[in-house]
Amino acid sequence: MEKTNIVLIGFMCSGKTSVARILANMLNFDFIDTDILIEERFNMSIDQIFNRYGEAFFRNQELQIAEKLRNDKFKVISTGGGMVLNPDIMNKLKVNGTIFWLKAPVKELLKRIDQNNNNRPLLTKANSYEIHMLYKKRRILYERYCDYSIYTGQKTPKQIAQYIMNIYKKEVYPIQKK
Ligand code: S3P
Repeated sequence: MEKTNIVLIGFMCSGKTSVARILANMLNFDFIDTDILIEERFNMSIDQIFNRYGEAFFRNQELQIAEKLRNDKFKVISTGGGMVLNPDIMNKLKVNGTIFWLKAPVKELLKRIDQNNNNRPLLTKANSYEIHMLYKKRRILYERYCDYSIYTGQKTPKQIAQYIMNIYKKEVYPIQKK
């Protein structure tokens, strides 16, 4: 089966959602954000879902979404930063997707996290040491599952999207059929 989906993975605040939106637009693919799907399903924020039902429940929702997405085509999928924790999820996403890791230095992530962590339950109470530790553990997983990694550094979301599109068109799916 041709792998037509593009899956973005990476740590919280690495820019997955912004890049996925732009990329979906450029390619005329559907945009999917797993966090948004879960929020819409329960009509609650991620933070509220974690508080009311717990993390394991949330992770199970992510698994259900991955199960559904394995049959989908031509989607740009922005994943929650913890989806790499479950190999089942990643194997499902890989069935019809190429995985791109948006890699950013932890220092840069910490800066963004400082400005924007209110709907991220894993960050609200974490200090910078704990975030470093979490990043260290997760990094290995992003590395393991990605087909391509993109060092985002000072690039804008548009530049990152352009970069991914170039790789996709050259190496992943050269014949555009949509
Ligand atoms: C999480 C990342 C979040 C969201 C939830 C848990 C994680 O997504 O799924 O707060 O475990 O890293 P973003 O990476 O889009 O912030």
